[in-house]
Amino acid sequence: MEYLDLAPATHASGTVRLPGSKSISNRFLLLAALAEGETAIRDLLLSDDVERMLEALKALGIDWQRGEDNDFIVRGAAGVFQVKQAELFLGNAGTAFRPLTAALALSGGDYRLSGVPRMHERPIGDLVDALRQLGADIRYLGNEGFPPLEIRPAAIRPGGRVTVRGEASSQFLTALLLALPTTGAGATVEVAGELISKPYVEITLNLMARFGVDVERDGWRAFRIPAGARYRSPGTVFVEGDASAASYFLAAGAIAGGPVRVEGVGRDSIQGDVRFAEALAAMGAQVSMGPNWIEARAPAGGRLKAIDLDCNHIPDAAMTLAVAALFAEGTTRLRNIASWRVKETDRLAAMAAELRKLGATVEEGGDFIAVSGRPTFIPGASIDTYDDHRMAMCLSLACLGGVPLRINDPQCVNKTFPDYFERFAGLLAPVIAIDGPSASGKGTVAALVAERLGFHYLDSGALYRLVALAAIRAGVSLEDGESLARIAETLPARFEGGRILLGGTDATEAIRSEECSAGSSKVAAFPAVRGALLGRQRAYRQAPGLVAEGRDMGSVVFRDAALKVFLTATPEARAERRHKQLISKGMSVSIGTLLQDLRERDARDSARAVAPLQKCADAELLDTTAMTVEEAVSWVIERARQGLPQAAAP
Ligand code: DC
Repeated sequence: MEYLDLAPATHASGTVRLPGSKSISNRFLLLAALAEGETAIRDLLLSDDVERMLEALKALGIDWQRGEDNDFIVRGAAGVFQVKQAELFLGNAGTAFRPLTAALALSGGDYRLSGVPRMHERPIGDLVDALRQLGADIRYLGNEGFPPLEIRPAAIRPGGRVTVRGEASSQFLTALLLALPTTGAGATVEVAGELISKPYVEITLNLMARFGVDVERDGWRAFRIPAGARYRSPGTVFVEGDASAASYFLAAGAIAGGPVRVEGVGRDSIQGDVRFAEALAAMGAQVSMGPNWIEARAPAGGRLKAIDLDCNHIPDAAMTLAVAALFAEGTTRLRNIASWRVKETDRLAAMAAELRKLGATVEEGGDFIAVSGRPTFIPGASIDTYDDHRMAMCLSLACLGGVPLRINDPQCVNKTFPDYFERFAGLLAPVIAIDGPSASGKGTVAALVAERLGFHYLDSGALYRLVALAAIRAGVSLEDGESLARIAETLPARFEGGRILLGGTDATEAIRSEECSAGSSKVAAFPAVRGALLGRQRAYRQAPGLVAEGRDMGSVVFRDAALKVFLTATPEARAERRHKQLISKGMSVSIGTLLQDLRERDARDSARAVAPLQKCADAELLDTTAMTVEEAVSWVIERARQGLPQAAAP
């Protein structure tokens, strides 16, 4: 089993740009597929659940293409899937399975829909019953009431009334609403019983309206799709940040000092889970909000207090409250969360079991959970995640109690947030990235900044130099990328108290030779070598923070660095500095040769295809030509004071 160890932490602060919302991403994809015209979807979430939807749409003949980054173009099929026979595997993606079931049941084809074993334990009977009222022909291939399903062509009764139960999942109502406009005949959907998770239905109605279908409604009881309604592409749409994902970071700010700011959701969001911020405020956290951001910090008095809350309106984000409860005075009671039982796992049972491992006192009922206690260190304990992304993400917060935490199967976060743990780590250990050309003095500056801030220090250039040295010593050609990458992968290097060891012998001086300097620049041009060193570099990021220097610290290795500096000086100034340095070591090289050499190296580092030396757009330029070392160090520390989270600055 794979696992991830989180070091104990007590402080979290910084800014996180959120990934796109899963709920909005998958709804936009289906709407764009069903619409007339072409839709550009910007900032789509790239995660397992969205992949399943993209694959399914492709299998159904929908033409979509990925553009730059997370931007997609979908050519709509105007309500008619061209492919009339398909087998669709939808993993554990409820946001793909339910709406596609509805859309395909009305589309007159032969389809089979299946998922992972857990998907086959998640009920779908309420949706199938509703679709059958319209004449749909759907059969259960396994257990009655559960996927996998077979759908066959059927005569759909136009303009009908259909009743759907609202108590188990709002996704059934959402699925019907999304699919019904494809018949063109209109329909009325009535909800039987209490509708849960209403904010998700709000998202559905809001997005349908953007695609030209306005649903008339009678409160939460009945929804009427007018006859003749059809989806039309609105052109370009933007996916909001994921409000449920925001909850982990905001909770981190509320638990461990803060401030933590999330960008991508805020006051103008259409997602119900932004109301998680109100729950945090009720626990005493200091919360502020703008149109597109939310920020949370710990209560003025320090500790959070327990709440008693009906969580029907924030079912997903409520999981985060259950873990925040470990940091609150008193017993937190979260009610009306029966839907937790039919999600990716039985979240009520799973949450109770894992919180108990952390020393909490937990009471678990049919539709509530009550939690009190502080996270405690229980030797040998590890957190199970039940193939449930939200279990992994919210339980990671427990490390903020200053306890070490082992999270089993952390890759389950791929469902909605593939780089969650990197982002989370970023709040616990900010990075100052200092990039620049050779001999710009960035090494001296970076080391001093790290020392003054009490941060860890990474000299990434030394790693490339070590690869070159190891290759030269082993007689490996510096043109042989594959062999060099193998050397990089298993590089027996250690940094100890200012000395650099290669395979047990001191290489501190040897890697600074001109031969190694030229060699490292050649070695660094191989993508495989760079890839092999990536994980090693990222492992330096540890609390309380890291100063990393090199060529691509801000642009590749630590893209989410809290501060990025591009430190440079004219080639003449750099050659002169290197000259003085060599003279002081008793070596003599002419300035002209050094200058020539620097220029060649600059050209090679800047022109290479992967991670070329460049100032990234969000880096600050620091030209040290006319500056002393002390001035440059002060400049960076001053920027750090302004830009870094408060507690991380000196
Ligand atoms: O910073 P330095 O001179 O010690 O770096 C040695 C070589 O390694 C340099 O030619 C460029 C390369 N390098 C790189 O490609 N990426 C980094 N992050 C650091 C160094």
